Amino acid sequence: MANTRLVLVGPPGAGKGTQAKVICARLGIPQISTGDMLRAAKKAGKLPEELVKQMAAGGLVPDSVVLGLVDQRVTEADCKPGFLLDGFPRTTPQATGLDDVLAKNGVKLDVVLAIDVAKDLLVERAVLRRTDKRTGQIYHLKYNPPPASVAEADLEHRPDDHEDVVAKRIDVYEAMTAELLPFYEKRGKLKRISGVGTVDEVTQRVLAALEITSQEGQAERA
Ligand code: AP5
Repeated sequence: MANTRLVLVGPPGAGKGTQAKVICARLGIPQISTGDMLRAAKKAGKLPEELVKQMAAGGLVPDSVVLGLVDQRVTEADCKPGFLLDGFPRTTPQATGLDDVLAKNGVKLDVVLAIDVAKDLLVERAVLRRTDKRTGQIYHLKYNPPPASVAEADLEHRPDDHEDVVAKRIDVYEAMTAELLPFYEKRGKLKRISGVGTVDEVTQRVLAALEITSQEGQAERA
């Protein structure tokens, strides 16, 4: 049986969301993206204006805010068989806070998978990303364009996906991982793969690193 309590780490545009959807479909576990949760809270008018501005400028929201979201979410019934945390934790206090949350629920993390992509590729990936607001499907105008059936009005361009903000988000990521990755490496939890290549090539590396066999997830669909 594959590992089912997972963390995906990677810079903006590394392909975390894209790969998370494949892993979660294969393992039948939910994707918990703190970025998506924060954007949903913003859409519902529940995110304080100060945090909306921090996100739009490419900064991180306070650790206590994201920890509160995750603390609540992992206790929900669909997380029982496992879950994939996408974009969380991002700081060492978030990582230690996550340990506490998991200990409270009597479970432990299995693997932290870092997806590495060089800076020059990241900007192009993020700037040309579009998300179908009805389905959450992620597209790229050059590498994975939306089909003709998706109306242009349904494609969202994130406010933090403009070049200057993406550059700031990459800097924030580099500063934070300087501590976060060694934190998990010391605990023997960290695996790293290259996120360069086609989506399918990266998926093959992800599945191999997570030891997801070709049978896993297939039986349920048959
Ligand atoms: P979040 O939503 O988590 O964004 P992020 O980490 O910056 O990551 P992205 O969503 O930009 O990229 P991704 O790696 O998922 O790439 P994707 O698969 O979409 O966070 C946003 C903000 O929320 C943060 O800046 C912060 O303010 C706040 N926040 C969130 N979590 C927080 C936390 N824990 N603590 C504090 N603040 C937090 O792919 C990108 C594009 O590339 C797509 O168009 C895709 O189609 C394309 N693509 C993917 N793979 C490939 C490939 N192999 N080849 C070519 N194109 C590809």
